[in-house]
Amino acid sequence: TGLCTFDPGFTSTGSCDSSITYIDGLKGVLLYRGYDVEQLAECGDFNDSAHLLLHGELPTAEQKAAFDRDLTLHSLVHEQLIMFYRGFKHDAHPMAIMVGVAGALSAFYANAADVGNPQQRLHSCIRLIAKMPTLAALAYRTATGLPIIYPRNDLGYAARFLHMMFAFPTQPYNVDPVLSRALEKTLILHMDHEQNASTSTVRTAGSSHANPFACIASGIAALWGPAHGGANEAVLRMLEEIGSPERIPAAVARAKDKKDPFRLMGFGHRVYKSFDPRARVMRRVAHEVLAHLNITSDPLLEIAMELERVATHDPYFVQRGLYPNVDFYSGIVLRALGVPVSMFTVLFAVARTVGWVAQWNEMAAQQQIAPKISRPRQMYTGHMQREFAPPHADA
Ligand code: CMC
Repeated sequence: TGLCTFDPGFTSTGSCDSSITYIDGLKGVLLYRGYDVEQLAECGDFNDSAHLLLHGELPTAEQKAAFDRDLTLHSLVHEQLIMFYRGFKHDAHPMAIMVGVAGALSAFYANAADVGNPQQRLHSCIRLIAKMPTLAALAYRTATGLPIIYPRNDLGYAARFLHMMFAFPTQPYNVDPVLSRALEKTLILHMDHEQNASTSTVRTAGSSHANPFACIASGIAALWGPAHGGANEAVLRMLEEIGSPERIPAAVARAKDKKDPFRLMGFGHRVYKSFDPRARVMRRVAHEVLAHLNITSDPLLEIAMELERVATHDPYFVQRGLYPNVDFYSGIVLRALGVPVSMFTVLFAVARTVGWVAQWNEMAAQQQIAPKISRPRQMYTGHMQREFAPPHADA
């Protein structure tokens, strides 16, 4: 195949240059546009972090007012799109719905196909960030047969989502500010993570100049898998299955057994070979939320903390640099917020949409200067040319 290197899983391939997110996997550092993610999560708000990722800088007061207004006013979806939800089987996984409806947004914004137009691109990015929580809440409300709740303009990003998830038209519902702040932190921590599987998928799809809604749908599909965004759901199911701290050694032994495909979900990362900095914040948020809700003992949190203790002292995990990742504690937080397990990965998709659109926009701008479709080569292992003979000739 000519001059090319063979790199399955792209473990040593840099696919692009980017000024968005920096990771030092050995030191456990994650920066968005130069700012420490831990600081952004603890002290910043969702919209500021989204502005930072998309535009490169934190907003001025004027920019903030405009950005807040945009993310609010674009949060509605076309009424016809809501009908799409009725077409799904009642027990469809919400991620299956999200792959469909995010791609279906393409049908409503034909101008978005003009990906060479920077203004048009920004419109699409804003629309996607603003509409994702609405799409996500609609997936939950329609699947459970609950009346749908429209986005409220007077609420911030995270609070608006919680309201759409849990309010009823028949009674007042006040969003708990501590819980919406916990969700906001969780979303900020998940916003971007440079060239992970879903972001690379978005860039690959975008490299053919496909419209951004279709590109984000491809990102949602890639995120769904349990080795990537589906891990937060898998972690919770694993903790439930372990059931009690006494059963942790058996689970750890299984994870170490090479003949057993079982892995400790929420452990390990392609880039981090020390503690994932996001996991540190998520663990704190988990404690904050449970304390606020007066949950003095949560069996799953106890299992999680003990599992972390056992695994991080086990030579198998230490030697391989396997530490808890962001999803190890995010499930415990989301569950405490009342979010059903099947919606965990959907929330990851809501947050990661910010990173996806920022990366897509950066890529599309680069493509205008130097167009280059993503097109890896392969190591061919099949037959070389052979003579065709009509099949079944001997029958
Ligand atoms: N439990 C047990 N062993 C593991 C685990 C684990 N969770 N993760 C990796 N290993 C072992 C693996 O068996 C291999 O051992 P050996 O060298 O003896 O063959 C070694 O560690 C290296 O693993 P790898 O699969 O080559 O590493 P990778 O960089 O390709 O995979 C990963 C990274 C995240 C897919 C993997 O660690 C994993 O499957 N973790 C569990 C799923 C998970 O939590 N995913 C969420 C990632 S963070 C959120 C996100 O980015 O979406």
